[in-house]
Amino acid sequence: MSGGGGRERFYITTPIYYVNDVPHLGHMYTTVVADVSARFQRMKGRDVRFLTGTDEHGQKIEQAARRQGITPKALADRVVARYHELWGKIGSTHDDFIRTTDERHARGVRKIFERVKAQGDVYLGAYSGMYCAGCEAFYPESQIVDGRCPDMGHPVERLEEESYFFRLSRFQEPLLRHYREHPEFVRPETRLNEVTRFVEMGLKDLSISRTAFTWGIQYPDNPRHVFYVWFDALCNYVSALGYAEDSPLYERFWPADVHLVGKDIVRFHAVYWPAFLMSAGLPLPRTVWSHGWWLRAEGKMSKSTGNVVDPIPLIDSFGAGPLRYFLLREMAFGQDAQFSEEGLIERINNDLANDLGNLTSRLLTLIDSSWSGTLPPIAVPGRGRQPLELFELREPAEGALESCRVAYEEFRFHEALSALWDLISRTNRHIVRWEPWALAKVASKRELLGGVLREAAEALALVAVAIAPVMPEASQELWSRLGGEGRSGNHDLFLTPAGKRWGILATGATTRRGDSLFPRIDKEAYFKETSMEPSIPKPPAPPSVPDPATAPQPVAAPASPQPGAASSPAAELISIEEFQKVRLRTGRIVAAEKIPGADRILKLTVDVGTDTRTVVAGIALQYAPESLVGRTVIIVVNLKPAKLRGVESQGMLLAADLGGAPIIAGFEREIPPGSVVR
Ligand code: MSP
Repeated sequence: MSGGGGRERFYITTPIYYVNDVPHLGHMYTTVVADVSARFQRMKGRDVRFLTGTDEHGQKIEQAARRQGITPKALADRVVARYHELWGKIGSTHDDFIRTTDERHARGVRKIFERVKAQGDVYLGAYSGMYCAGCEAFYPESQIVDGRCPDMGHPVERLEEESYFFRLSRFQEPLLRHYREHPEFVRPETRLNEVTRFVEMGLKDLSISRTAFTWGIQYPDNPRHVFYVWFDALCNYVSALGYAEDSPLYERFWPADVHLVGKDIVRFHAVYWPAFLMSAGLPLPRTVWSHGWWLRAEGKMSKSTGNVVDPIPLIDSFGAGPLRYFLLREMAFGQDAQFSEEGLIERINNDLANDLGNLTSRLLTLIDSSWSGTLPPIAVPGRGRQPLELFELREPAEGALESCRVAYEEFRFHEALSALWDLISRTNRHIVRWEPWALAKVASKRELLGGVLREAAEALALVAVAIAPVMPEASQELWSRLGGEGRSGNHDLFLTPAGKRWGILATGATTRRGDSLFPRIDKEAYFKETSMEPSIPKPPAPPSVPDPATAPQPVAAPASPQPGAASSPAAELISIEEFQKVRLRTGRIVAAEKIPGADRILKLTVDVGTDTRTVVAGIALQYAPESLVGRTVIIVVNLKPAKLRGVESQGMLLAADLGGAPIIAGFEREIPPGSVVR
């Protein structure tokens, strides 16, 4: 594609996020990847458009809002504010944020629908599914266990409702042909193979309207129907470009270059979406690029598992740049990866504080002390008296740069960073090898000393610019400390494969030592301060019911094993009478809120049958307050009240301790509050 002033265009999108819950680290990952790619493409000189947004319609959102006693739009507004806050904190450079409740979006959906309908690809039929009257929702048959719904354990029944259908079956052959002719349409290849197999098995027509709920875009021909949320949502990629208004943006940026998606939603993007577009006669996106999942010890990080990681406290503790670095370096793009706070801290301490940070301070200190804080002249191999071995960094540095450029282009971010960190290690070795501190003591070695320092500074300057898409702030800081001019993120390093690479700094430029670029994190202190336990494997902890007056957390996270406890289990045994002293009851959470100034704990209002209690629980890092309302939990109701952060806790919530992360204990079906648990 070219145009827009002759520059090649690049349009990248994230999925639009559901608003039934606040953003978690998994969502942040998708946006960080898109942001890094967009920043890289801008550095390459492309005319970039980067879109993100929110998916606000559908039954789930209607239900979540009802549970909170607010309208779906009010819920959406609340959650959208959290997304804006997060994107601001991570420095996302999206050009637009589409909400499916925007009028421009509804117009886009209707325009695509009209074109699809004009092709004869829509008809009225009946949708049959497993319906839960309690939740007023249809559930996929695969999720029904013993005739009950997966969310609340209500009984379900088979029900039919009138629905409009899209003739998806007509597109089986055209889709298969498209996959064959454009193998880059779905990446990585394993996902293309899965999608191909799925389509080869045959496609059923797709229900694209619903009557069981009303929170959606009204179906034009029948006001009792709203559009199925995926028909609505997928259209965002064109409605945001002003497709309905024939906007020049649409002309300029459609078709998209990359729809970035998690592996769970590849099918919607690689089967349904291209079929809708084919029917409407619109060009197809170039690539649906899929990434893996961030997992916790207990599986995929997701709202339904309740094991989500809130990125905001992590950003507050470690900074957005280091977190972005970790996400890209730790996950081999396309595959799953495990998230843990220790993993994050180790990466920060090893890669950022030790490797990059120490190299920077070492080099800048040496330039300061032995070259008055200015850049020594660059030497040219074969000219002058410098030994040829001095130039040991040049070739590997240019090689690392090229690997990094190709890897960014190909979404292999971990490889891009690993190539740069190889260069950092080489540069560290270069310093060790030439011992500039010793050279500085010998007047006759001055030229060599200058050469050694400048070679290292050049290598580090390439790293500074090349990390700009991932850690824009650290990149800028490093670049300016090295005496670099202007914005590192605007550098033309990636403009062409053969761009000017060695000698990007100017002789005589002033360098600046500064504080440490990446302070080391004291792991112990972090876990102590956050009252979390590092998730290193431990012997099983004895069951314990901590005294709320002394317990660090009001959640019954098992205490750390006492010395000798595991080896003398008899000492831990209690009689049934002793156990019966602990009164456990079911409770329903009726309200949950953060406590100002306390990041880790939530104040819960819990209906325990006989009365309503305030319970303070150390679960704020794992659970968003909104996700807790309506949940049935187990409460110890006869504990002495204890004050935590000024709030009196009148009970304790039971939770499992999975690697330091509390997971609330619950039931497989709904239980009235106040039921005895034993
Ligand atoms: N609303 C739909 C997308 C519609 S696009 C037209 C949706 N929303 S979502 O909020 O559930 O997920 C948005 C993205 O976050 C998806 O790409 C999903 O894969 C990603 N992630 C959600 N949990 C994740 C992890 N634990 N790890 C990595 N990404 C995850 O689906």
